[in-house]
Amino acid sequence: SIDLRGRSYLSELDFTAPEISHLLDLAADLKKARRLGTERPRLTGRHLALIFEKTSTRTRCAFEAAAADQGAATTYLGPGDTHLGVKESVADTARVLGRMFHGIEYRGSGQSVVTELAEHSGVPVFNGLTDTTHPTQSLCDVFTMTEQSSKPLAEISYCYLGDARNNMGNSLLSMGALLGMDMRIAAPRALWPESGLVTACRSLAAVSGARITLTEDVEEAVHRADFLHTDVWVSMGEPAETWRERVELLLPYRVDATTMAATGNPDARFMHCLPSLHDRSTRLGRQLFDTYGLDGLEVTDDVFSSPASLVFDQAENRLHTIKAVLVATLED
Ligand code: CP
Ligand code: NVA
Repeated sequence: SIDLRGRSYLSELDFTAPEISHLLDLAADLKKARRLGTERPRLTGRHLALIFEKTSTRTRCAFEAAAADQGAATTYLGPGDTHLGVKESVADTARVLGRMFHGIEYRGSGQSVVTELAEHSGVPVFNGLTDTTHPTQSLCDVFTMTEQSSKPLAEISYCYLGDARNNMGNSLLSMGALLGMDMRIAAPRALWPESGLVTACRSLAAVSGARITLTEDVEEAVHRADFLHTDVWVSMGEPAETWRERVELLLPYRVDATTMAATGNPDARFMHCLPSLHDRSTRLGRQLFDTYGLDGLEVTDDVFSSPASLVFDQAENRLHTIKAVLVATLED
């Protein structure tokens, strides 16, 4: 039987495929219990520190609501709220928090920071997004795909389009490789995941049975795919000037009605971790429209707002999947 107590979740590859399956089953049980009103708190008396060096809507709210549902208390430490990195080292901060909290969530730039927090705190650490990975999101995405599909996990095919060198590109590639899925990436070669990760994922695939495709050819990549995923073209922490080169490079990889039709699969669904620039209703969306004349960047609003779009199911599932991670790792 699978026991994840005391474990950290710093990247997808911290867990084995059976351990991820266990988390998916637990998330399904917790989702059902919450809906039926039969949820039982399993984390009473536990304390969680939530460090956010970057902003968040979903991840923060999911951790806080999940903890509250399960009887645990949270302390939110927002950007600039602690001494971390200014006059206190990561290691010392970890030692301090480890004396007060049973678990620590961290969102920021450095993957090395979550690793160091885990090394020195002595308690489970959860990666709430770094520049390199977003493992609670990829767990949610695979949960959402299994929930929406009648196929077994290994038969599900999905394609990620756009900036595949960012955290979401890396995380969705890793998850597919680990779980033996049909995972495709459609991106300009300059924005493919780093070769070291691709090599590691190809080795994993040899064991898991995953089919991994990296291509610049959108039609080839999306053919018969069950799910099309994308993400913002410029991530948090990247300079605003990046937009100029990215728009030119990534426009062929934008998800619009033609891309959806190119799957040849009338049941194909659209997914996005959010937030998304799909129209002009945000300040940035308006700026980009004024500069490039583009209404919607990585996805057009007709796809984002269509019945094929699962984006708000994904958003809700952040709660259930993060709760599964907390319960599995922190329960007595
Ligand atoms: N998808 C996601 O991580 O959203 P937030 O940035 O709002 O947490
Ligand atoms: N790639 C995006 C994901 C946001 C949830 C970013 O890092 O900004």
